[in-house]
Amino acid sequence: MPTIVVSSPMPGRAVGSLSSQGHQVISGDNPAGMGHDALVACLREHPETEAVISLLTDKIDAELLQAGPKLRIVANCAVGIDNLDLAELRARKIVATNTPGVLTDATADLAFALLLDACRRVSEGDRLVRSGGWTGWAPTQLLGMKVSGATLGIIGFGRIGRAVARRASGFGMSVIYYDAHRAPTEAEETLGVKYAPLDEVIRECDVLTLHCPLTPETRGLLSRDRLASMRKGAVVVNTARGPCLDEQALAELLTSGHLAAAGLDVYQREPQIHPALLGLQNVVLAPHIGSADRPTRERMAEMCVEAVTAVLAGRTPNHVVT
Ligand code: NAP
Ligand code: GLV
Repeated sequence: MPTIVVSSPMPGRAVGSLSSQGHQVISGDNPAGMGHDALVACLREHPETEAVISLLTDKIDAELLQAGPKLRIVANCAVGIDNLDLAELRARKIVATNTPGVLTDATADLAFALLLDACRRVSEGDRLVRSGGWTGWAPTQLLGMKVSGATLGIIGFGRIGRAVARRASGFGMSVIYYDAHRAPTEAEETLGVKYAPLDEVIRECDVLTLHCPLTPETRGLLSRDRLASMRKGAVVVNTARGPCLDEQALAELLTSGHLAAAGLDVYQREPQIHPALLGLQNVVLAPHIGSADRPTRERMAEMCVEAVTAVLAGRTPNHVVT
């Protein structure tokens, strides 16, 4: 029976079902995944491996694919595919899949949690209370941004961007968005959103949230100049990918007070956090937990197992990205 390498322990029972079907499953024991080098070593030790279930932190490149001459599928347990070398996968006729859709609501919830926290200074207040420094209700204490009535700018109006727009409408926000492709008028009307060019969205919003994939076009999209062009007192939320945003510039603008606050789930060099951000009170730092509600993560693991099972049985899986 085929050998399947799974980068880390997975929630739920799906991966366990592969062993009960008789497959040889080699599972990494680090919750954060094997990572590129350990995966390469594992594939060299098991050159018969036909499938890999990878994490978004596993760089799937030519060296890794070379180490697995029998590989037929890489099932990436994420919607983001910026860790995959798609050209190499295609050249080797290896199928790659991802897990879109199932994590849309979970990630939109987390983006909105960061938005509310950053605007209303919840984590800052939590730290104040725990430090023993809270002396009681005060009219001037921890004043933040009024969410209702504020303008939300969304960059990347796909599944998650639209789910965030739906949440924003429940909070009485106005929404403007930019996407590489403008949404149909009907979708704009249903969601009550307006399209604007990228730089206009950045300049005109009170809160900006990123929901684009990481691509050569979006790397550094929220540059120093664009961050500086935002309204004074604006808030930035990033649950897309760290390299979409200039962290050094963000830290400087948060320090100077030009930007009021930020809520981040993703970073340029995960799990390292830019030291300048770590020192700031007005940034909420989440550990890349956008999709981390239990049913979502269990379903993501199931989707990977379904994709692997399909390919090993000679069928075309869902959500092919190659
Ligand atoms: P999606 O449905 O594909 O939406 C992404 C949208 O961004 C698409 O409408 C896409 O347009 C647009 N886009 C592409 N290039 C752009 C550009 N240069 N400027 C503006 N918009 C651009 O993907 P999704 O499911 O919403 O996920 C979006 C991203 O969120 C993922 O790629 C991943 O990086 C991130 N994510 C993070 C977490 C987390 O845990 N923090 C969880 C899930 C996802 P086209 O389709 O027309 O190209
Ligand atoms: C998480 O970041 C994902 O891309 O699924």
